Amino acid sequence: SKYILANICHPPEYGKVEFINHALIGLDRSGIIQFLLKPTDATYQEKLKQAKKEERLIAFDDSKLILPGFIDLHIHAPQWPQAGVALDSPLYDWLDNCTFPLESKYSNPEFSKEVYNNLVDTLLAHGTTTALYFASANKNTSLSLAKICAKKGQRAFIGKVVMDNPDQTPDYYRDESSQSALLETEDFCKEVEKLAQNTLQGIYPVITPRFIPSCTDSTLKNLGELAQTHNYYVQSHCSESDWEDSYVFNRFGKSDAEMLKSFGLLGPRSIMAHCVKLDTTGANIFAETGTSIAHCPISNAYFANSVLSVAKFQRLGINIGLGSDISGGFSPSIYDNLRQAVIVSRILEDGVDSSLPSEKRGKANSRITLAKAFWHATVGGGQALKLKLGLFKKDYSFDAQVIDLSTLPTYGGFDNQDSLWQKALYLTNSPSIKAVFVQGKKVYQNQL
Ligand code: GUN
Ligand code: FE
Repeated sequence: SKYILANICHPPEYGKVEFINHALIGLDRSGIIQFLLKPTDATYQEKLKQAKKEERLIAFDDSKLILPGFIDLHIHAPQWPQAGVALDSPLYDWLDNCTFPLESKYSNPEFSKEVYNNLVDTLLAHGTTTALYFASANKNTSLSLAKICAKKGQRAFIGKVVMDNPDQTPDYYRDESSQSALLETEDFCKEVEKLAQNTLQGIYPVITPRFIPSCTDSTLKNLGELAQTHNYYVQSHCSESDWEDSYVFNRFGKSDAEMLKSFGLLGPRSIMAHCVKLDTTGANIFAETGTSIAHCPISNAYFANSVLSVAKFQRLGINIGLGSDISGGFSPSIYDNLRQAVIVSRILEDGVDSSLPSEKRGKANSRITLAKAFWHATVGGGQALKLKLGLFKKDYSFDAQVIDLSTLPTYGGFDNQDSLWQKALYLTNSPSIKAVFVQGKKVYQNQL
């Protein structure tokens, strides 16, 4: 067990941020928070003395602020080499011309390891302590991603991508058959579960049909059954773009959400990326089944020309986390995505164009605040994954990032708690993150 003494900040409720100076946090052996004491609590001094005496105290000075680790709820690990590339193409062309050729290279174990090692290091250096990954269609190198996360100490949820529909996938990058896709997925899940037993932080398999267009009917049905039988997590893309949405409607005469549900792919352990085109019926299906949304606001600007109605879906009771969607989104940073989430929500908000006073634009109550975006980046992601993550609170995992406030424009006579957490969220980049912890274990130390 150890103790942490630090200034901390987290979002205990949707839209609220709590800042505690000199919090004393007690961890058990496996990095789970046992207690959090404020200086005004009766037992604080006694516990602090004990921690010092046992020499188990990790104390951070007042130039540091500790935030919960971020959760990337949607990221394509094999697409890391093309981050920032070809985003002017529409989704269909981008998949065909860039992404499928790149992902097909993950039959090469050396290349896979090189990329995956660098990506996981990069995510940790940006404060991402948990990630929900799409790997590639190659089972073996998808397993190597799991091993790399296990070794580096990142909490990871990983799927071998399934794509077996010959109409929508290229000959050089496709599951051999519906049957092999199912068998390899079963195998993959078992191997990940075996591997996970030797980790503190947990590594979890995820059933991962790429999206409806990539998969045959029998595969979608088989994967739904597999997920239900084993209570596995499920991830896919849903209602992502005009093209994808109309493809599904043309093939089935129904919406993405209706079809995913009918295949048994929605539920409390399902996380669907994007959902910008989700209609009211679809939203109700998500709320009823407990399905979560991975909101990827940078990616949505490019592939959907659109903004997710976060505020509306949140009001409908749908749980929402944030995703980078590397490389549909260009940035590996959840900071960048939470900022984008706030900014685009402001563009959705209603207003009157002053040059054309008759033209109202936007919709009332669309905006989300910085505090709400902070919640989506932490607690929202944790709720989607059904784990106690994103808060400094008893029974939660101590997943944390240490921000060096002295690297940001902060001034003793000017700043207060309220300005500091806002600056931390808006201005932190990787060099300001000094250390990262996953379940009490230091997994990253900034050498700068
Ligand atoms: N839809 C199907 N595959 C993909 C992908 O790799 N990225 C994104 N953004 N959307 C997809
Ligand atoms: Fe994606």
